[in-house]
Amino acid sequence: MAVELRESWSIGPVEVPTRVVLAPMAGVSVQAFRRQGRRYGAGLVCSEMVSCAGIEHRNEKTLGYLRVGADEHPLAIQIFGSEPAAMAEAARMVEAAGADVVDMNFGCPVKKVTKTGAGAHLLEDTALAFRITEAVAAAVSVPVSVKMRRGVEDGSRACLELGPRLVDAGAAALTLHPRSAKQMYTGYADHTLTAELVSLVDVPVIASGDVTSRERAHAVLASTGASAVMVGRGAQGNPWAIREIVLGDAEQPSREEVAAELIVFIRETVRELGERRASGFLKKFYGWYLGHGRFPRPFKNELVQLSATDEVVTRLLAAAPGAAAIVERLEAELPDPEGETLLEGMPISIYGGG
Ligand SMILES: Cc1cc2nc3c(=O)[nH]c(=O)nc-3n(C[C@H](O)[C@H](O)[C@H](O)COP(=O)(O)O)c2cc1C
Repeated sequence: MAVELRESWSIGPVEVPTRVVLAPMAGVSVQAFRRQGRRYGAGLVCSEMVSCAGIEHRNEKTLGYLRVGADEHPLAIQIFGSEPAAMAEAARMVEAAGADVVDMNFGCPVKKVTKTGAGAHLLEDTALAFRITEAVAAAVSVPVSVKMRRGVEDGSRACLELGPRLVDAGAAALTLHPRSAKQMYTGYADHTLTAELVSLVDVPVIASGDVTSRERAHAVLASTGASAVMVGRGAQGNPWAIREIVLGDAEQPSREEVAAELIVFIRETVRELGERRASGFLKKFYGWYLGHGRFPRPFKNELVQLSATDEVVTRLLAAAPGAAAIVERLEAELPDPEGETLLEGMPISIYGGG
């Protein structure tokens, strides 16, 4: 029997209204992305990984600081690090900033992260992973979750040993992206491991990896018994994929809708990161939004060449004049920025992955 994607489920006391979770993606999951994900039906959204290195006074390369808006909840904020005390302190700050769930990254395969003992390193250091989880779970009153890969080496089954230990340590949910750290994003996510993990623990498991359609979401939920699927790359520049997965509404967006969503995304990201950072950061999104045969390729190439985001907006409005009214409606629905919380002291890492 097909699992109803619009059914709610819970992580501890936190109710998640649909079975689709928007993935944490460094360099992607800015506030505009999370907001848009919620609007299109994601039941839970996640921040990019924020570093507790800021707390440890290390010199971390960063993209800025996290902003949390009233319309993002339920929101998981992801932290990473390797020191139990620093992670506990980070978790308290994240909770104070409004996280409904504190998520920990035990899957990032990027060397800059693993060599510090964080990310995927923890998949093979069960004792440290246990201590971190225990310290973080004890530090906050919101539920704590952990996002893992299957292990470091190809074929590893480390997640099956570690997962139940993390639940003993206090994890209220687990996310599994069943690729090895070595694999990065090659090959495919082996969700037979997700099914095994589900059978070993009594907390909800979120299945991450290669879910890009409603059909695939149903297949993964049915074959694994996971509580939810997580969607990452499939939602880049494509919130309509989330709508299709959650609601089965496969209607392609009009050019006006695409241009309007991109314009709102650009404006919000400039507000969050500032024009200088945002103009470079946003370029990859132009291809993601305008692809799928929505706009001709030369138009996308033209936008990427522009340095000021204002100019990009002007070109989009010229190409799809009907977008202006949609932008106005979308912007009117945004909550008052006065109500936002800024998570200072914990930089967003540019070295993400998981
Ligand atoms: C650009 C990019 C950045 C990512 N950053 C993070 C991250 O910061 N934390 C994390 O746990 N996973 C991160 N991931 C992994 C995703 O959350 C997800 O597990 C993975 O992409 C597989 O799902 P997908 O096939 O739906 O993309 C990242 C993935 C991508 C593509």
